[in-house]
Amino acid sequence: MGRVFFIDMVLRSKDLIGTQYLTEDEIEEILTTAQTFTEIAKRTVKKVPALRGRTVVNIFFEPSTRTRTSFELAAKRLSADILNINVSSTEPAYGETLTDIAKTIEAMNVDFVVVRHPMSGVPHLLAQKITSSVINAGDGKHEHPTQALVDLFTIRQLKGYIEDIKVAIVGDISHSREAKSNIWALTKMGAKVNLIGPPTLIPPGIERLGVKIYYDMSDGLKDADVIIIAPVEMTKGHRYLLPSLREYARFYCLTRDRLNNANDDCIVLHSGILKRGIEIDPIIAEEVYDDIIHQIENGTAVRMSVLYLLSFMHKSKLNNGESRKKE
Ligand code: CP
Repeated sequence: MGRVFFIDMVLRSKDLIGTQYLTEDEIEEILTTAQTFTEIAKRTVKKVPALRGRTVVNIFFEPSTRTRTSFELAAKRLSADILNINVSSTEPAYGETLTDIAKTIEAMNVDFVVVRHPMSGVPHLLAQKITSSVINAGDGKHEHPTQALVDLFTIRQLKGYIEDIKVAIVGDISHSREAKSNIWALTKMGAKVNLIGPPTLIPPGIERLGVKIYYDMSDGLKDADVIIIAPVEMTKGHRYLLPSLREYARFYCLTRDRLNNANDDCIVLHSGILKRGIEIDPIIAEEVYDDIIHQIENGTAVRMSVLYLLSFMHKSKLNNGESRKKE
């Protein structure tokens, strides 16, 4: 039998719905635990028994490459069983009510439900209806907490610290759930955050979250240590917000001249499909690609950390609040 020791009750909820609900200590615990899990990826046998016998269900109502696969890999490396349910918007099941979905999931006695949905608030509602731990894998324009935790983990790994670091988030802040989660998490951890983009893509009043707004990219990038590119798309209602992607690129593409305003050792992160020539100059994209690869690699360790820490909350709930044990 392994060594047994008790740890403090660090996470307060059985669910991870958003970084806005996490405390600084909780974020710290997730990042510190993720660091211990990075070592597992370097082993020949990339598996630990921490979640043996537990079941994780990935239920995605929107496409995903990085998040879904890294949750699957995280669950497998922790020895959990994993089930993937992809519900495309063209399938009849898409019309199933949230209550029915919740009852169906509950009936399967699963331990974790990782959910992505185009509507903001779905993970929150689901978490209220089921006893399993619910993890938000991106809901509408609201939050994508594990992506922000991956970004913070990568920043700390590449820069050594987060407090007082200057982060510029560039792009479509209004529609980016990653940007919202990053704003909450970075400001809680003491980073200084600049938001850069056209006025139509920055939510009114967001400066109340302790960020600065810049419509001029060179001004907003001044002395930045980290640049996070929030994806820009020309879909759905976007055509009323931007004249064209070419017009967007004229003012907000990360070019050499604009990057020169940031610190020399500035890192660049992007969590989705990199649009070369629109969001970033193709030559700069090649130069910073190692940072983005680090970010993707870190996705598994951070999601292992989230599943592992939430497993104690779920177990303690089942055991009516019995102390958590690490084995
Ligand atoms: N960052 C992110 O959400 O990527 P996926 O859409 O590939 O999951």
